[in-house]
Amino acid sequence: MPRILSGMRPTGRLHLGHYHGVLKNWVDLQSQNQCYFFVADWHALTTHYEEPGAMDAHVWDMLVDWLASGVDPEQATLFIQSRVPQHAELHLLLSMVTPLGWLLRVPSFKDQQQKLKDRDLATYGFLGYPLLQSADILMYRATGVPVGEDQVPHVELTREVARRFNHIFGRDPAFEEKAEGAVRRLGKKFAKQFSQGRSDWLQNGAAISRENALFAIESSANLSAEDRERLAGYLDGGGREILPEPEALLTPAAKMPGLDGQKMSKSYNNTIQMRDDPERVSAKLMSMPTDPARQRRHDPGDPNKCPVWDLHKVYTDGEVRQSLEQGCRRAEIGCVDCKKPLLASILEEQATLRERAEPFEKNPRLVREVIEHGCERARAAAEETLIEVRAAVGTLYS
Ligand code: TRP
Ligand code: SF4
Repeated sequence: MPRILSGMRPTGRLHLGHYHGVLKNWVDLQSQNQCYFFVADWHALTTHYEEPGAMDAHVWDMLVDWLASGVDPEQATLFIQSRVPQHAELHLLLSMVTPLGWLLRVPSFKDQQQKLKDRDLATYGFLGYPLLQSADILMYRATGVPVGEDQVPHVELTREVARRFNHIFGRDPAFEEKAEGAVRRLGKKFAKQFSQGRSDWLQNGAAISRENALFAIESSANLSAEDRERLAGYLDGGGREILPEPEALLTPAAKMPGLDGQKMSKSYNNTIQMRDDPERVSAKLMSMPTDPARQRRHDPGDPNKCPVWDLHKVYTDGEVRQSLEQGCRRAEIGCVDCKKPLLASILEEQATLRERAEPFEKNPRLVREVIEHGCERARAAAEETLIEVRAAVGTLYS
């Protein structure tokens, strides 16, 4: 089975944007893949180290929402990052071979410093946080990492770090010797082009240098097929694959609109929580703004100018939607008539979520047990990888 890993910072109770944008996708993945889903509590500390008191409640509240969404601990392994201290060891060992420049140029480093101006993010931990994420991913030899667009550079970094790690620690002297023989057979000019290109690719991740090296292989006149293949392998590391390179599985940008037409987000204060009270949801929906042109009941409206309509696009299917659209445009229905079926759909969805959450809300021990079990499984998988990693870097003692 393909291995999938994803993590989420503990932000407390989740909203419907998380459910539609992330969690439903996790649920879809869990039956066909070996899934690891974890609470990235150390990641939260890299930016929110001044608020440690909030962590405990945030972690458990978020986990109940995961379970409410249908993430199934029988199928997926759920755990808390800090309860698997192997993540710290792998992060440390990866840090030995990660050039400072790679971290400094990760876009989120400067972006977040700009965005979170009220925090001091000129810290070692914050600079290293994408590498901690690399450790999270490589630890479970994940093949796929479901992430939003903003996280893709972190998966890209992970690939480069894995490649470099394998290059440095996965050396096979016998293979290298043969490969170097093939390099010499390229002829002086192409041998130089290949070697420079290869080292710039492996040391610095420069894709253009890889192209140059490939070009040298193709251009060299009389190279055997065997040598060609050998050089192609040598170009991409050539060593043993200790840590496989993961692929980002881009989660389509969450189209989930909030109460004001902007993307649903805690920071815009426009959310409906997954387990909101029905009365609160009703009040929120009924006070939502609509097409400003519909001052009175008999004013025709344009659904495209109405944030309620954006929610209908998520919750209401074709036929009903069409008749509502017509009703709005022809002023045959009022906005309350339009909001009612939407409210009903949301409440129905939330009833299912609440039902799944109920046993865990009633008995918080149950969540602890799920996590205890998940952490054990995660530690066992992590330890397997770490034994190989320790052996490769020389810290597995006899
Ligand atoms: N950095 C991610 C975020 O802020 C969370 C995360 C940590 C993660 N480690 C991960 C996501 C590994 C995917 C894979 O949202
Ligand atoms: Fe919006 Fe519906 Fe009112 Fe039209 S009828 S403005 S779509 S709430």
